[in-house]
Amino acid sequence: DVLADYQGTALLEKQLSSKLGISRCIVLPGNADKQHRVVDSFGRRLNQLLGTLLPTGQSMISVTGGSTLAQVARNLSSDLSKNRQLVFLPARGGVGESVAIQANSVCAEMASRTQGQYRALYLPEDISEKSFESLQKETSIKSVLDLIYRSNVVIHSIGTASVMAERRNLSSKEQSVVDSGRAVSEAFGDFFDQNGKLVYKVPRIGLHVRDLDRIEYVIAIAGGESKANTIQSYMKNAPHHTILITDEGASKLILRDN
Ligand code: G3H
Repeated sequence: DVLADYQGTALLEKQLSSKLGISRCIVLPGNADKQHRVVDSFGRRLNQLLGTLLPTGQSMISVTGGSTLAQVARNLSSDLSKNRQLVFLPARGGVGESVAIQANSVCAEMASRTQGQYRALYLPEDISEKSFESLQKETSIKSVLDLIYRSNVVIHSIGTASVMAERRNLSSKEQSVVDSGRAVSEAFGDFFDQNGKLVYKVPRIGLHVRDLDRIEYVIAIAGGESKANTIQSYMKNAPHHTILITDEGASKLILRDN
């Protein structure tokens, strides 16, 4: 019955939060690996959550790329902009990955669904330190970076290391660091092993995991059984105030050996 289901989910969410060491988990039914629509439900739940969390007035929302967030973005709605001005920003510069799942595109989609605004950051992924320093001084880039560092909200997903190593076009040297370090998760260009040890860091512009501490609302979204290890690995470094939106598929695997 409905009450028993509700109590069951509330318990699961509590157990998961304590196992992962974060403040809150929201667990939705299903397994995103098998059911595409589960990711749509993450998006609707995110919309609801932002509706209760965000203050009136302006919010600066930094978002990462990836297939999860690209689909989540399509489920946001304009009710969020009632009494609010939302500005979506790409958390990391990066035009290396395919256009549909770039952070810039996720921002544009979120802004269009919520009737908010967005700013893009067009920077290559594999930029050298030298070019980075001079580009950072460009007014158009600097103004977006300043906004990113002032975000009050971050929405990010967590990638599977092997998938992300390929997507981010790592050189064979970088790839071997990721492989020999047995990386299992990636977020914000940081690759972590099963114990949460940092194995490799893609030198890129924008937010890093360490910057999340000072951002008021940090929302991570990842689901599917295939992301169970990934989530556990990443959460060893996540700030405690992270809120995770996930599914039963991932949660039950994470809690399996409890
Ligand atoms: O940074 C991690 C990725 O954004 C996750 O990508 O949603 O396609 O697995 P994904």
